[in-house]
Amino acid sequence: MSGLKQSRPKGTQDFVPPDSERRRQVEETFRRMAETYGYREIITPTFEHAAVFEKSSGTTSDIVTKENYTFRDRGGRDLTLRAEGTPGVVRAVLENRLRLPYRLYYVGPCFRYGRPQKGRFREFGQVGIEALGEASPLTDAEIIAFGNIFFARLGIRDCTTQVNSIGCRECRPTHRDALRRYLLERQDLLCDDCKLRIDRNPLRVFDCKVETCRQTVKDAPTPRQYLCPACQTHFEQVQADLTRRGLSYETNDRLVRGLDYYSRTVFEYISASLGAQDSLGGGGRYDYLVEEFGGPPTPGVGVAIGLERTMLVSPATPAPARRRLAFVVWLTETEIAAAEQLADRLRSDGIAAQVDYDARKVKGQFKSADAAAAACCIVIGPDELAKGIYSLKDLETGSQSEVPAENISAEVRALFAAQGSRGQGIKDSRVRALDP
Ligand code: HAM
Repeated sequence: MSGLKQSRPKGTQDFVPPDSERRRQVEETFRRMAETYGYREIITPTFEHAAVFEKSSGTTSDIVTKENYTFRDRGGRDLTLRAEGTPGVVRAVLENRLRLPYRLYYVGPCFRYGRPQKGRFREFGQVGIEALGEASPLTDAEIIAFGNIFFARLGIRDCTTQVNSIGCRECRPTHRDALRRYLLERQDLLCDDCKLRIDRNPLRVFDCKVETCRQTVKDAPTPRQYLCPACQTHFEQVQADLTRRGLSYETNDRLVRGLDYYSRTVFEYISASLGAQDSLGGGGRYDYLVEEFGGPPTPGVGVAIGLERTMLVSPATPAPARRRLAFVVWLTETEIAAAEQLADRLRSDGIAAQVDYDARKVKGQFKSADAAAAACCIVIGPDELAKGIYSLKDLETGSQSEVPAENISAEVRALFAAQGSRGQGIKDSRVRALDP
């Protein structure tokens, strides 16, 4: 816009209608679903002490080392804007002494200082669920299925589920040593970051996007080759349950995820239509995280899904031509009070209603009703007031009818229904196949 003094910061977005409404629909689909699986909402602060993220997401993950928004506040505290939901949830569970097991879900903004590109923002929305205190592989499978059903409900077809296991405290060190030896022998082929990773956390090399590194890890020892019997059984049970649920998935030996707290099961939902940032969501088990926060040994598993990426790949639902909104039109200033009252009555009946107080003439009010994409106008003039009858005009068909005052809410509702102005929920065959 010419003359605009400030634009929004790089990597952020505005959501104006109807995108803001679509986003809310996605959030609401998620909330409803999470609640049907027994999760309850948790709201944690948008910023935490920097140590919360360092302790959990890890000192070797790119998210913590390169992407955190960390700042010192006026009181000299080091704080970090939430880069993901999980660490704050774990901190809050301990701080509020929630009795486990506890299933929690969240919806909220996250911040990562990455290079903005398609599907990658500096502020983005995450929706996620965390099952704290649940150790069974069946919970892992249920959560993996949850994400799948969520995407299917939104009409997203192009989504592959990848799963892997990265082992536990018992088996991981053996794998780490083998991987370290393998990488040391080939360190000339690795990028500078990966050379450092050999020592700090060689698993991170699997995540590197540099082509020579990708080639080099192709034949590297994978975590799955080193799983201990308990981890092996756990992973087999996860897979057996996914199959039982009729869910199609791929195993990916190189999937390790970019956060340090995972153990055993890790998974990701990939969409080919997203380009380089192809992960719609991901998660896994984190059986040591609660302990790392100073709590008792407690298993946990969860998933988080990116709202922007989900919206990018979900099919556009045709916007209804008209909104479920009734515009109350007054003919002369004498009826303004009655218009105001009628609008309030409709609202208390749960019907959205609006009055144009600024317009001088009826024509202007009809224009406003049209600009607001209202479904109908209810006209109040001196005659209407005297007879207790309103004239109801359908703005889609142009048809007009006389409605007794006491029936107005019912008639407006019938008109909304006739226009079918409400967006229809999406259900496709995949949902029917997966939904119990
Ligand atoms: P994550 O894979 O880092 O996992 O993020 C989850 C999702 O958030 C990604 O798949 C993506 O859709 C979205 N996302 C991440 N970064 C960005 C970005 N810069 N711009 C747009 N979208 C983004 C976690 O955050 C874990 N806490 C998941 C989890 C929950 N694990 C266990 N419980």
